[in-house]
Amino acid sequence: MLGVVFKLTLVNILAVAVLSIPQITRKGRWLYQEEVGGGSTRFFIKGIAYQPQGELHESDDNHFGEPGTFIDPLADAEECRRDLPILRAASINTLRVYSVNSSLNHDECMQAFSNANIYIILDLSLPIVGSIDRTFPSWSTNIMDVYLATIDAFEKYDNVIAYNVGNEVVDNNSTTFGAAPFLKAAARDIKAYLKSLDSQRLVGYAAIDGNLTVRKDLADFLSCGSEETAIDIYGLNEYTWCGSGSSFESSGYNEDVAQFADYNVVTYFSEFGCVKAGPRTWTEVGSLFGENMTSVWSGGIAFSYFPAESNEGKFGMVAISTNGTSAEVSSELRALGERYRAVNSTNNPSKDAAMASNYPTFSSSSPFSSALPGTPNHAGCNCLEVGLTCVVSPVAANNLDIVGPLIGVACGLLGENGGSCTEIGSNGLDGSYGRVSGCAPRVKLSYAMSDYYERQNRRSAACDFNRNASLNPHASWAESLSDLAVSCLPSPHATGLPRAFATPRTSRDASRGPSVNGTLDSLNSSSLPYLVCMLSLSLTLVMASSVL
Ligand SMILES: *[C@@H]1O[C@H](CO)[C@@H](O)[C@H](O)[C@H]1NC(C)=O
Ligand SMILES: *[C@@H]1O[C@H](CO)[C@@H](O)[C@H](O)[C@H]1NC(C)=O
Ligand SMILES: *[C@@H]1O[C@H](CO)[C@@H](O)[C@H](O)[C@H]1NC(C)=O
Ligand SMILES: *[C@@H]1O[C@H](CO)[C@@H](O)[C@H](O)[C@H]1NC(C)=O
Ligand SMILES: *[C@@H]1O[C@H](CO)[C@@H](O)[C@H](O)[C@H]1NC(C)=O
Ligand SMILES: *[C@@H]1O[C@H](CO)[C@@H](O)[C@H](O)[C@H]1NC(C)=O
Ligand SMILES: *[C@@H]1O[C@H](CO)[C@@H](O)[C@H](O)[C@H]1NC(C)=O
Ligand SMILES: *[C@@H]1O[C@H](CO)[C@@H](O)[C@H](O)[C@H]1NC(C)=O
Ligand SMILES: *[C@@H]1O[C@H](CO)[C@@H](O)[C@H](O)[C@H]1NC(C)=O
Ligand SMILES: *[C@@H]1O[C@H](CO)[C@@H](O)[C@H](O)[C@H]1NC(C)=O
Repeated sequence: MLGVVFKLTLVNILAVAVLSIPQITRKGRWLYQEEVGGGSTRFFIKGIAYQPQGELHESDDNHFGEPGTFIDPLADAEECRRDLPILRAASINTLRVYSVNSSLNHDECMQAFSNANIYIILDLSLPIVGSIDRTFPSWSTNIMDVYLATIDAFEKYDNVIAYNVGNEVVDNNSTTFGAAPFLKAAARDIKAYLKSLDSQRLVGYAAIDGNLTVRKDLADFLSCGSEETAIDIYGLNEYTWCGSGSSFESSGYNEDVAQFADYNVVTYFSEFGCVKAGPRTWTEVGSLFGENMTSVWSGGIAFSYFPAESNEGKFGMVAISTNGTSAEVSSELRALGERYRAVNSTNNPSKDAAMASNYPTFSSSSPFSSALPGTPNHAGCNCLEVGLTCVVSPVAANNLDIVGPLIGVACGLLGENGGSCTEIGSNGLDGSYGRVSGCAPRVKLSYAMSDYYERQNRRSAACDFNRNASLNPHASWAESLSDLAVSCLPSPHATGLPRAFATPRTSRDASRGPSVNGTLDSLNSSSLPYLVCMLSLSLTLVMASSVL
């Protein structure tokens, strides 16, 4: 009887589902909108960036004026209702959202946008704590948790097109090239996770414009290898068309077409809309959606709906009233809407005619390392943490402002005592990853503290760190630190299905069994040799930051 009721309910759900927003799929390098009655047509992103600007993060290396805080634009139903008619009037079919809080409820906004046939491209990173840092990159359990939590919160909605694993992480400066393997590892793991959920969502990256040489190298690096390791959708933040005096040639859009003519996955402008030449009239829309470009590019995201400012100028296209209840539409947004409405969409190539992607092998001339870090391994890190002799106190452990400097202190002490922070650090430029580099900063710190404490022959004062550390009663006192690390984390290149955080166990033996076998499902050790990262003492303090 229960079974029958269940079936009836399913039928009802399916009947409702027929009316829902058409799904967007990828075939080869193009997007298709699956029509309700069957069949499909090419889909072009007529998008707008939809994220209020957070507060500026004050830091010496924050050249791009990136925010340190964020406001989730999909958690406030009244604001979504305020904006929806404006977005519809501007013929917007996609919003790009940069950061959301996975613990909030997004049902009303997502349903409202879905009902209006508006899709979402969602970035997974959060400012500071939840993103892959361009200067000190890492792909570790704490960042992965943020990404997975966002996916878990958004998989239930039918209008998500893609998740981005990063935005403008690699830039012109070759010191940032070491971040690329972490991005590719993140894409690999997020793809595995989505596959395990039977999800069709795409995985993407949004690249900075600028240095043409490395731009294509990065795009190729991220989309090479195999279906399992390649991004599905490459975004280019392209601000080179400045004012109505610009053209297909003078903007360099012609180069964008030539450079990506043979690319293997979807491409779009993940941001566009230069503000350097006065109020925008969006003449570039005619080019981007015109026949010169549509064989290569699938539309773009105009920046930005909400007021946003950088040293380039002001980007916002509405003015929000002080009490937040109304949004005044600018002439720029009206102009954008007119351009989007005038677009003549092509269905060339049709989905049937579209070639599936092929995935080129890694190019040996790439400036990026083909050796990727492994999948962040919660159980392995937990196995290690509960076995360490000297651990950071719980209060300090949750405060990055304490953990960061303390890692510097611990690594400095190790350097003076014949040790190093090699095991907790990594170097994406040459593809060397410490065994513990995929663990949370807290675990890395405890590892360095334990190493120092052991080197000091377990002198109790060596496990104090200004009362930020204490001895761990559950530790495996008989085992050497390196044996412990090897048994918990057999390889820093091991890949598998990512698992979100599970409650840590206090007894090491309880968690040791599964971790040895691979707490990651189908634990796999890449064939790439583990390259030992030889750090000089002078680099040790720099590494201290890179382990975050
Ligand atoms: C998410 O929202 C909750 C509830 O308001 C808040 O406690 C938490 O700090 C937020 N998380 C982030 C990362 O902003
Ligand atoms: C641009 O990329 C090339 C190739 O990777 C590199 O040699 C060059 O230094 C980069 N230019 C700038 C300005 O960083
Ligand atoms: C590149 O980044 C490094 C480290 O942040 C910095 O010292 C250097 O000045 C940067 N170079 C350029 C050309 O911006
Ligand atoms: C990157 O370098 C190119 C060439 O040197 C330059 O034109 C561009 O403005 C730079 N972009 C950024 C974001 O620094
Ligand atoms: C298309 O390309 C041609 C040749 O480069 C150029 O003259 C024309 O302006 C372009 N059209 C658009 C709409 O960008
Ligand atoms: C909010 O502000 C607008 C215009 O500034 C005003 O018309 C409206 O009555 C205000 N609403 C509330 C609820 O205060
Ligand atoms: C769309 O097609 C119509 C009819 O062919 C044409 O008049 C119009 O100029 C086209 N719009 C654009 C933006 O190319
Ligand atoms: C913990 O370490 C931080 C940073 O080094 C330091 O400021 C603080 O005083 C330490 N805590 C205690 C209780 O000493
Ligand atoms: C590892 O775990 C898998 C799945 O739980 C199991 O089938 C396999 O026998 C285990 N292998 C070893 C060596 O313990
Ligand atoms: C492990 O990785 C290798 C190389 O990528 C692959 O050939 C092999 O099938 C993988 N093994 C498992 C069990 O996933």
